[in-house]
Amino acid sequence: MVAFDTVIRNGTVATASDTFKADVAIKGGRIVAIGEAITDADEIVDASGLLVLPGGIDSHVHISQPSGPGIVMADDFESATRAAAFGGNTFVMPYCLQEKGQPLRAALKDYHALADKACYVDHSFHLIIADPTDAVLGQELPALVADGYSSLKIFMTYEGLALNDYEILGVLQVAREQGALVQIHAENYDAIRFLTDRLEREGKIAPYYHGKSRPIPVEREATHRAISLAELIDVPIVIVHVSNREAMEEIRRAQVRGLKIHGETCPQYLVLTEEDMQGLNMEGAKYVCSPPPRDKASQEACWEGLQQGVFSLFSSDHCPFRYDDEAGKLTPKGRTSFRWVPNGIPGVETRLPILFSEGVSKGRITLNQFVAFTATNHAKTYGLKGKGSIAIGYDADIALWDPAKTAKISQTGLHHGSDYTPYEGIEITGWPVATMLRGRFVVRNGRLVGTKGDGRYVTRSKPGAVA
Ligand code: URP
Ligand code: ZN
Ligand code: ZN
Ligand code: ZN
Repeated sequence: MVAFDTVIRNGTVATASDTFKADVAIKGGRIVAIGEAITDADEIVDASGLLVLPGGIDSHVHISQPSGPGIVMADDFESATRAAAFGGNTFVMPYCLQEKGQPLRAALKDYHALADKACYVDHSFHLIIADPTDAVLGQELPALVADGYSSLKIFMTYEGLALNDYEILGVLQVAREQGALVQIHAENYDAIRFLTDRLEREGKIAPYYHGKSRPIPVEREATHRAISLAELIDVPIVIVHVSNREAMEEIRRAQVRGLKIHGETCPQYLVLTEEDMQGLNMEGAKYVCSPPPRDKASQEACWEGLQQGVFSLFSSDHCPFRYDDEAGKLTPKGRTSFRWVPNGIPGVETRLPILFSEGVSKGRITLNQFVAFTATNHAKTYGLKGKGSIAIGYDADIALWDPAKTAKISQTGLHHGSDYTPYEGIEITGWPVATMLRGRFVVRNGRLVGTKGDGRYVTRSKPGAVA
């Protein structure tokens, strides 16, 4: 009898703290030994010249989420998790959106039905609280947090989603009492409405003006307010998708003052700018997301936020729509004003290559920081036990990376449901060549070898409970 199911031999293992040459032995889907010259296994995988990294955990993705009348997201759970696996990920955390008036359990039932038996990688859900009624805050949420739905997202903007400060405080209070973690989308709703109305009156309706409708002060003010509200309740929060220096500095100041404020940034804020939305045609719609991409100085600030640990999370904010599609970016209404262009861009497959190439290969961050920002910190922040590292007893969720492989990002090479990538043409050094979920390959040699439905729903511990 052999001792192990699989051994990954001769690779370079990296965790959030260390990089070392070792063999990794897997049995029953878990890592059971890390050592030298381990050969006693059914399958030996030669990882010479490759990095052995924990599979990416993307804690900010939108899948099959209703996005307005006549608009359909470009990915369902099958295509989004397939793309995630090709991009070196083994776990995604999509949102379960509560519609107004809808009990949270009913919303969860719908999302579980969509995800069950459809996923190539593991998943769990954040709850979007759109309607914080007394019943939701008093009964539903406490029971759901106890059941492992321990993270929420709330919005300070968007029609139908924006909560006022009183409502935000109510959600934060429940989070404090129950030990849940709240993500906050920080943009000032009234300011965006005012600026949007003014731009439209001036005839400035092309997608380019999306960025002008939510300039940096809109995000900075809301970030400051979100932090202040969290301070009033004395509860940790995550400020998601931070795009610029001023918002980053708000988070840094709060952290220096001892507040537990987590910061997240995303690929679009490192490699895109508002120039990508330029032009008075509809092409800019491909880059419409919120907050919008800013400028080179903002990109530098986001790098600084990562390098100096103000941001601990790097997520994709994958929110895919098709471009050339009346149910996507180019609805008839969307052609009349940027106001109606659905917000969001695809990125679950390109998140890791972009950060690896622009960050590790170009010397801006270390390989260990890369692992922390893309896997380990997500597991720790959101209470995912046994995930996010290469360690004994952990799930064998592993991505094998070729750090020298060069590629150009191109829609033709991607596996998402969108018909474009906003990252077209970006040259990459370092690419994931295989992805393994609980000891079994999902992607190998550029081919999908996993089975739809192998990705499981994972119940989480309370945030911060994972050491
Ligand atoms: O534009 C974006 N980011 N769309 C996705 C929804 C969100 O706010 O995260
Ligand atoms: Zn499920
Ligand atoms: Zn958001
Ligand atoms: Zn998002």
